[in-house]
Amino acid sequence: MKEEGKRELSDQPPNTTTDAGIPVPSDEHSLTTGPAGPVLLQDAYLIEKLAHFVRERVPDRVYHVKGGGAFGYFEVTADVTQWTKAAFLNQVGKRTPMLARISSVAGEEGYPDTDRDVRGFALKFYTEEGNYDMVGNNTPVFFVRDPMKFPDFIHSQERMPDSGLRSNNMQWDFWTLSPESAHQVTVLMSDRGTPRTWRNMNGYSSDTYMWENAAGEKFWVKYHFKTEQGIENMTDAEARAMRAEDLDYHRRDLREAIARNDHPSWRLEMQIMPYEDAADYRFNPFDITKVWPHEDYPTIPIGRMVLDRNPENFFAQIVQAGFDVANFVPGIGPSPDRMVLGRMFAYGDSQRYRTGPNYAQLPVNRPFNEVHNYNKDGPMRYDHTGNRPVYAPNSYGGPKADPQRYRDPSWFVEAAEIMRTAYVAHKDDNDFIQPGTLYRQVMSPTDRDHLVGNIVWHLSQGVERFIQERAINDYWSKVDPDLGTRVAHDLGLVASVR
Ligand code: NDP
Ligand code: HEM
Repeated sequence: MKEEGKRELSDQPPNTTTDAGIPVPSDEHSLTTGPAGPVLLQDAYLIEKLAHFVRERVPDRVYHVKGGGAFGYFEVTADVTQWTKAAFLNQVGKRTPMLARISSVAGEEGYPDTDRDVRGFALKFYTEEGNYDMVGNNTPVFFVRDPMKFPDFIHSQERMPDSGLRSNNMQWDFWTLSPESAHQVTVLMSDRGTPRTWRNMNGYSSDTYMWENAAGEKFWVKYHFKTEQGIENMTDAEARAMRAEDLDYHRRDLREAIARNDHPSWRLEMQIMPYEDAADYRFNPFDITKVWPHEDYPTIPIGRMVLDRNPENFFAQIVQAGFDVANFVPGIGPSPDRMVLGRMFAYGDSQRYRTGPNYAQLPVNRPFNEVHNYNKDGPMRYDHTGNRPVYAPNSYGGPKADPQRYRDPSWFVEAAEIMRTAYVAHKDDNDFIQPGTLYRQVMSPTDRDHLVGNIVWHLSQGVERFIQERAINDYWSKVDPDLGTRVAHDLGLVASVR
């Protein structure tokens, strides 16, 4: 591995060529009519160079823009065949190559890595039955539980349409009018909202998925990737100071750790719920704003992910990497979690927009196994089927789908009217129970002090008085009366639960 920023020296560089491979005479001087004359249109190399330059960007991801990543492997450490027939998980010791992209959510490409934010945790497993993408976050829950609210949520975290400025007022307006966000905002406002490095945080599927074994038995599952480096966070003050010192602190840290062979690793632990439990579990298990308490569903260690290879080309391997929630492999599928179902549309759509309909042919996105289907042509396609049939059914040996072996993962729903409505509430479904437990039973006194300080600072940055009051009375006091009182006190207000 070369040291960062160092390049190999060479006294025999090749001659520059055009993109067509034709040697060119100069990378310094445009073709002109004499030293003072006009630049000539016939300078095809200059025109190619400028025209290519202005097309260097592809559209950003709509959010999760600033990130970094690395390649590595996943190794199975426990027999999970009783729960899933996924081929890449079918043997203890089996290794699958993978890619991880870790990102922050709201900021653009130049944004400081240590801003208070959720971190994305997107994984691509290059399995023998196609690419499996697990696109999670470093938090076990999320801000909203219905995809209909997702664009509004993201808009509230971005920039104001008139000024182009970030706005805490907009963020708290949305959050306090969306009580289901209270659990995630409690995590975000804790020191877990400012992880020390990407290596020092966990990754969670957050969403609930389905596993299915070879006998067709189904289970509901949540993924927990537990950092083997240990959880470490920055205080708000440390994170703010780092924003001034190094914008790329997290991206740099991951790259440098791998370059010095200090390969970060995560233990995969699963929560596994029998299919039948979902109906009357005390929390709706498909509501992404809730966790499954460990005492009900303890985590089961099943594997280990190690990142051991840095990208050689950041644009080709990290910017153009496309993770798609709809990329399940046999043995893994979606669940009635509405966010999963909404997400299954959005990611492929984004990649078709960002890199085009043939994005899956880019080396970073293509599976290691062979692709056989009837898609053809389109921009930048270079896999061609020759004289093989381009339609199904056909008589000429084109690929055939096997409905018996590869049935869609499924579940049963009761006959019901088609409607727009909330999830059916389970016994303990309340937006404030779990964040309250986190505050009272999980956080240490220091964690609680930091939480209060972080909330107060965040609420003091341009948030209107009536929204501050709503944050205290309709939000934090409902998470915990003591928390509401402390936030109110430090803001110079008085709490009263409404
Ligand atoms: P447990 O006491 O069994 O689990 C609490 C978990 O919280 C820990 O295992 C740890 O999970 C995580 N944690 C520890 N310290 C902090 C912190 N300062 N900030 C945020 N998370 C922390 O209780 P329950 O399973 O009953 O959960 C209680 C609450 O803990 C939940 O309401 C939720 O807010 C939070 N939590 C629960 C998780 C779950 O899947 N059950 C996962 C993470 C948080 P980890 O090892 O994943 O870091
Ligand atoms: C990226 C949509 C919810 C985690 C993206 C992208 C889209 C999107 C369009 C860009 C994809 C690309 O161009 O490659 C949505 C929608 C959601 C949703 C519509 C809700 C319905 C979530 C949730 C999580 C999540 C709940 C975490 C559990 C991520 C991550 C990325 C991402 C980590 C970055 C992936 C990468 O590194 O390339 N999302 N998202 N999203 N999303 Fe979501």
